[in-house]
Parts: sequence; structure tokens; C-alpha cells
Amino acid sequence: MGKQNVLRVAVDPERCQGHNRCKMIAPNLFELDELGHARVVGDGRVTPGLEDRARLAEANCPEFAIKVGQA
Ligand code: F3S
Repeated sequence: MGKQNVLRVAVDPERCQGHNRCKMIAPNLFELDELGHARVVGDGRVTPGLEDRARLAEANCPEFAIKVGQA
């Protein structure tokens, strides 16, 4: 119950090929590991105000590796 309007981003490591668009678009939400693959920063919760960036990153990943959903 209660408000469920907090978003969370997730990266599917099976899909990510290291295109780096996510981090370019939303460096506060994504970082790259030592192999250049993306992972979420922290627990993936989208800081208020960065919802559009999260959606943009999701839309711009050529591998469809990013998902944005309710936290
Ligand atoms: Fe990976 Fe897509 Fe980002 S391929 S590095 S999740 S743009």
C-alpha cells in the first residue's frame, strides 16, 4: 500500500554489450564495471528528477538491457 511512484533501474547483464549510452545519458544512475559493462549505481533507485533520464537511457540502449520499473 501507499505510494509506489519510486522508480528503479535495472541492467540485464546477459544483454549489455557495453555501448555506454546509459552512462552518457544518466551518469548518476549507471556506472561501468572493469569490463565496460553497465551496472546501476547503488540500489538502482531513481533519484527524484531523474525519471526522464532513466527512461531515456532505457530507450537508447541498443541491446534493450535496461529496464525501468516501480521500485
Ligand atoms: Fe550496456 Fe546498453 Fe548501457 S549495452 S553499457 S546497458 S547502453
